[in-house]
Amino acid sequence: MIIQTIHTQKPYPVYIDNGLLSHAGITFAERLPDLVSKSVVIISDSNVMPLYGQIVAESLQDAGCRVSTYEIPAGETSKNWSLLGELLEHLTNLQLTRSDYLVALGGGVVGDLTGFAASIYLRGISFLQIPTTLLSAVDSSVGGKTAVNLKTGKNLAGTFWQPKAVLCDTDVFDSLPREVFLDGVAESIKYGIIGDHALFQDILHGGLKYKCTEIVASCIAMKGNIVAEDEFDRGTRELLNLGHTFGHAIELLSHYKISHGHAVAIGMDMAAKTAARLELCSRDCCNEISDALTRLGFSLNCPYSMKDLFQVMLQDKKRRNNIIDLILPYAIGDCKIYPITLDQLKEVLST
Ligand code: GLY
Repeated sequence: MIIQTIHTQKPYPVYIDNGLLSHAGITFAERLPDLVSKSVVIISDSNVMPLYGQIVAESLQDAGCRVSTYEIPAGETSKNWSLLGELLEHLTNLQLTRSDYLVALGGGVVGDLTGFAASIYLRGISFLQIPTTLLSAVDSSVGGKTAVNLKTGKNLAGTFWQPKAVLCDTDVFDSLPREVFLDGVAESIKYGIIGDHALFQDILHGGLKYKCTEIVASCIAMKGNIVAEDEFDRGTRELLNLGHTFGHAIELLSHYKISHGHAVAIGMDMAAKTAARLELCSRDCCNEISDALTRLGFSLNCPYSMKDLFQVMLQDKKRRNNIIDLILPYAIGDCKIYPITLDQLKEVLST
């Protein structure tokens, strides 16, 4: 088992290995002795609960916890204000106290919703993350961003609330549909492009299949370092948004029919092309990124006009007056924050 420590204000471990789910309870309890004898609510969705709810519940019971479960419908639409309210009411009906725990068992939707509930229930209780998609393992389960969507956009209400521990069983990725696995591949290779050329090569050459635990650990280590430097997303953490400014616009224009990872893959390709046009990186670097994404299975055709993309990018959460921070590759393994004016961006997109 690999254990990465995330050095936020309150550091916490991330356990990564195959076959971990059935030992989840004792693995958590070794570092969190207070967990034993606590009430624990496992929150999962209608896809994941039938697959893994029981095995996780039993392992927590074996560790001494009183366990109950709460199922939400699978899908992004569950990340909403009214479902969050229902969950909080349910926790009060259970008389869950401040010293008890929530467990997020699932992908990003479950993790973000559970984390948000944990951060506001009784003004904050502990929670644990058990990501069951590659995407949530390498991204949303670590770093403490919680959210629900508003009618006006994705993740527009949320908090920073770090989990007490994260447990990532790499065996569960075997059951993911190909397209869902690919979502995670995009977020994984993102780390290679941001800061680790060797990781980029490993993922390109199938490392997520033959040494998944090691690769996932490397991605989490990089995210952990960035989060430790900028827990509340005021600077360096923006690097994690490589491909996301374009990607979010694509997701929104597609009404979320293009999934996050696929949109981010197109977005990383656009970021590379933008960097090449601005002569920040070489054409070879840009082509290497595009070729890698294509070889990994992504279609990089953006079905929307640059004009439409630009309009949506104006709503970017991180826009400051007429500046948007793009994350651009200067080389593979070396990305930087590049503040660009709206006029400049419009010009680059139209060339
Ligand atoms: N998903 C980007 C971040 O955690 O900051």
